[in-house]
Amino acid sequence: MVRKKIIGNWKMHGSIQQVHALTQALLDCSAGKVSNIDRVVCPPFIYLERVVQQLADSGIQVGAQDVSAHGVGAHTGEVSADMLADAGCRYVLIGHSERRQSHGESEALVAAKLSRALEAGLTPVVCVGETLAQREADVTLSVIDAQLQPVLGLSAEAQQKVVIAYEPVWAIGTGKTATPEQAQEVHVYIRHALAVKNAATAASVSLLYGGSVNAENAASLFAQADIDGALVGGASLDAQQFAAIWRAAEI
Ligand code: PGA
Repeated sequence: MVRKKIIGNWKMHGSIQQVHALTQALLDCSAGKVSNIDRVVCPPFIYLERVVQQLADSGIQVGAQDVSAHGVGAHTGEVSADMLADAGCRYVLIGHSERRQSHGESEALVAAKLSRALEAGLTPVVCVGETLAQREADVTLSVIDAQLQPVLGLSAEAQQKVVIAYEPVWAIGTGKTATPEQAQEVHVYIRHALAVKNAATAASVSLLYGGSVNAENAASLFAQADIDGALVGGASLDAQQFAAIWRAAEI
């Protein structure tokens, strides 16, 4: 698996028409160019299948923003990992801070979703990150450590299939990016935590940074040895800007 990845999280934005136009603009940006990185977009559930079809053969993959912790059954409103795979999704975000904060997602829930995603053959993107209060209280690394437990509990073989996104909560949607050095410090910590089980796995896992990444700050973040790409929110809604970010990672 290539370590470099750029993932766009469209969150709860768009309409059928807007999603179609954004997807077409991404196709225009990537037409005729071969990429040496993984590029992924995560539309809202309801648009997944359309976007999968529109992006067929483009080299751009599709992911979901969440997944049920359950398998098939009486779970009203839920979408299972098998359904996502069936719809053509290859990736799924798990434990995004917006879900941890406003839907009370716990480590146990993240662990359950993670195993469902792996069983269905999806690439899980597990999100971790501290709040501003936690950073100021100097507990960033212990918060990351606790949020990493669902991944650290996996076998080395399973860990190899996981992507981890470090997204400081104070940097998400605020325009306030972590400095490349602040991000690198946490990325190194995460890679060392993975290396306790298996050094080769730790070296191969993609560690993405997220939080106000844009076309201007992307290159300096990607210049850090352990930042393999980005999970991009707001800037991924603009195809030109998203393409500029993936080009910064292609170098
Ligand atoms: P942002 O969001 O790029 O808009 O800060 C990142 C995310 O929440 O994944």
